[in-house]
Amino acid sequence: MKKIGIFYGTTTGSTLEVAEMIARELNVSPQDVHDVARTAPSDVAGYDVIILGASTWGAGDLQEDMAGFLDGLQSLDLEGKEVAIFGCGDESMADTFCNSVGEIYHRLHDTKAMFIAPFSNDGYHYDHSASDVNGMIVGLCIDNVNHPEKTEARVKAWCEEIKKECE
Ligand SMILES: Cc1cc2nc3c(=O)[nH]c(=O)nc-3n(C[C@H](O)[C@H](O)[C@H](O)COP(=O)(O)O)c2cc1C
Repeated sequence: MKKIGIFYGTTTGSTLEVAEMIARELNVSPQDVHDVARTAPSDVAGYDVIILGASTWGAGDLQEDMAGFLDGLQSLDLEGKEVAIFGCGDESMADTFCNSVGEIYHRLHDTKAMFIAPFSNDGYHYDHSASDVNGMIVGLCIDNVNHPEKTEARVKAWCEEIKKECE
């Protein structure tokens, strides 16, 4: 059984809510759900599957606590770890929607981690997003500002992909 840890960065609580939904879907206990503002990057060592989540702020910027956490994570050797990424954003910011998901992906590129659980961009509406690489989103994008009604189904569908990886 692979051990899953969830690490989130949030400013107003939205990404925390999604982290908790994911934890419920995947039966991850609360002690394995970490606010990166109070967590050392080396704590990922205890997990086989690392789920990273952050919101997007400014003009497409990574949430600040996650930015600091990644500074440490980037210098670790994550070979053998599986990484899944999610984030919260606002589709009305159509040129930077959920950029954080893409930024996490790009910043961890050289760590030898294996990325899992990309997500279809069907049903999303944006002009540009760093999370969209060749027509697939490299993780789960959530818009609780405009489309909270879509969140539960998106979380469930994405978690099914992670469950397959963990079988
Ligand atoms: C000043 C400001 C700038 C924002 N910039 C972006 C952005 O560039 N792209 C995006 O997708 N969302 C953007 N958002 C939306 C937030 O990411 C969204 O509200 C998210 O749910 C916040 O999550 P959190 O509470 O976990 O931090 C912005 C929101 C605010 C208030």
